[in-house]
Amino acid sequence: MNRLPIFLQVRGRRIAVVGNGSLAARRVETLARAGAEVWLLTDQPSEEFDALKGQYRLGDLAAPEAFAGFPIIYFAYEPEEEPDEVQIARARKAGALVNVADYPRMSDFITPSVLDRNPLVVAISTGGDAPLLGRMLKARLETLIPSSYGRLAALAGAGRAALAEKLSSHQARLRFWERIYDGPIAEMVLAGDDVTARTMLEREIDSCRPDGSASDETPKGEVYLVGAGPGDPDLLTFRAFRLMQKADVVLYDQLVDPAIMDRVRRDAERIYVGKKRANHAVAQEEIGAMMVKLAKEGKRVLRLKGGDPFIFGRGGEEIEKLAEHRIPFQVCPGVTAAAGCSSYAGIPLTHRDYAQSCVFVTGHGREGPIQLDWTSILRPRQTVAVYMGLAHLDYLTKEFLRHGADPALPVAVVENGTRPNQITVTGTVSDIAAKAKAHGLRGPTIIIVGEVVTLRDKLNWYTPHPGNAHADA
Ligand SMILES: C[S@@+](CC[C@H](N)C(=O)[O-])C[C@H]1O[C@@H](n2cnc3c(N)ncnc32)[C@H](O)[C@@H]1O
Repeated sequence: MNRLPIFLQVRGRRIAVVGNGSLAARRVETLARAGAEVWLLTDQPSEEFDALKGQYRLGDLAAPEAFAGFPIIYFAYEPEEEPDEVQIARARKAGALVNVADYPRMSDFITPSVLDRNPLVVAISTGGDAPLLGRMLKARLETLIPSSYGRLAALAGAGRAALAEKLSSHQARLRFWERIYDGPIAEMVLAGDDVTARTMLEREIDSCRPDGSASDETPKGEVYLVGAGPGDPDLLTFRAFRLMQKADVVLYDQLVDPAIMDRVRRDAERIYVGKKRANHAVAQEEIGAMMVKLAKEGKRVLRLKGGDPFIFGRGGEEIEKLAEHRIPFQVCPGVTAAAGCSSYAGIPLTHRDYAQSCVFVTGHGREGPIQLDWTSILRPRQTVAVYMGLAHLDYLTKEFLRHGADPALPVAVVENGTRPNQITVTGTVSDIAAKAKAHGLRGPTIIIVGEVVTLRDKLNWYTPHPGNAHADA
């Protein structure tokens, strides 16, 4: 290690910035955010500093004592400027530690790439050799460290003093925090419920044993109801991915793509509870009961569902039982099939020239095709996305026509949307049923009805897997 990483408390300290361009402005901004008393040493601040008024004082760079009284001085030259080595030497002579942006060898310290989850801060340095690499690594960490980790750190900060009073042993406190960071209290914060988390933490501090373990050793499980999106694993949310890594057991649907199951924690137990139309593998109540039982055994249960759990997903019904049994749970939304399929088929669901509204409907009821409110569905300049409609496509399109739809109204059927084997068939209300049949579509499919479908000719961007012989029609 060539340089020593330290986090400096600069609140109220005088720190100077020399420069008058965007780089200097960013330095001023960062320093002001950290609470420093920032001095900008320049003649006349450029427009880069317009938005920073009140965040810095102006110093005279030409004054003989310009650098006096600053423990730290930043030189932030613009790329076309050469560093003024005389000035830098003067600053150092005045007793300051100096940083020259982009010139690590002229600098006493370097500024790292910073991942800010205040109070949690991660700083990355490549010793000035490869700043871009540092920034790329930072971008990766952004995806790994949830933005709410700062709030988790703040919660721990709030509980530290009380815990130190209760547990004198360092080991015991470590054991306590390990349990908290890995358990439902942390999950509660990450899911956004800081108030409950704080109450739970206070209770834990009050009741924990002298060695930091929980007084009540009955295992506490929890349930994560997670939307896995329509198929492409890259569409998983950060939170979904994190919960998939935490789960002890996963209950999954037929619609959850195998590529997504590959991302679930390797040693998690997998239970298939999916169902096919008219062939319910596991009854809904049974799934609810199973989740309650597993959570009561202390397991972290991941209920993974295709798309979004609250859109035609019965997610609400499944978690009602959890609420009744007071089992902690959280719901993580996913990209719903209509959004995923339309994007990957190059069909915007709304567009100022074609559709100002969009409705999601299901084409399948408990007892066959659903009876829809045709007047509200057949509004002009409205897109209709039909879920679970393929089996009744013939009936649905006939009903569209019977209720006054233009026979030339464009329709697209997207099968296996967002997946490598996506197929998109386009036509009109009059011929789409026959076309879908001719292509042997089997589902899952989303049916998109509306003028927006014509935009596909221009906006289609996604190329399904080349091995898919009839990817488009
Ligand atoms: C029971 S619903 C679940 C919907 C899911 N909760 C969502 O938000 O997308 C199942 C229907 O979603 C649609 N669907 C789900 N994934 C799809 C995909 N990859 N491509 C096309 N349609 C899909 C189909 O209409 C399928 O019959």
